[in-house]
Amino acid sequence: MELIHCIYSSEQHHNMSQDDLHVLLEEARRANTSNGITGILLFENGYFFQVLEGPATAVVELYNKIRVDPRHHTVTKLVGAPIQERTFTDWSMGYPGVTREALLSLDGLNDFFGAGKCFLDLDEGRAKTLMLSFKEGNLRA
Ligand SMILES: Cc1cc2nc3c(=O)[nH]c(=O)nc-3n(C[C@H](O)[C@H](O)[C@H](O)COP(=O)(O)O)c2cc1C
Repeated sequence: MELIHCIYSSEQHHNMSQDDLHVLLEEARRANTSNGITGILLFENGYFFQVLEGPATAVVELYNKIRVDPRHHTVTKLVGAPIQERTFTDWSMGYPGVTREALLSLDGLNDFFGAGKCFLDLDEGRAKTLMLSFKEGNLRA
């Protein structure tokens, strides 16, 4: 079974309330658990950053649904590639509000976020740095 990961960023369509975010997360958690998808979903100042990993067919199918979800727009794929093993063992979410302060404290990304950039401005290398920062616990509330 081929494992892949797909990383993208996007912008919320309308102002999503904390309740809207929780509904989205609960749906995603439930579905991902049954589809063998792991990863993270971060939300900061109206922008999403998501890592999806799992069997290629499941990840592609999910990404194609997410891409056209009316809750967000400018869905921009940053990474899509085969992986040897998963980075995340479960489905987790950075606290819905990742703060600017937290982003500014990250090694290798502080200049980028300090220059007023957001998740949509990330490139492949920075996307992977952000993913690993989260894994190492540097972004958790
Ligand atoms: C930012 C964002 C992230 C999402 N992440 C997931 C996810 O990880 N897993 C999931 O099943 N759905 C996720 N969704 C929801 C999907 O777009 C879609 O609504 C869901 O897969 C249900 O589709 P279905 O009713 O056609 O099965 C996400 C939506 C948005 C806007």
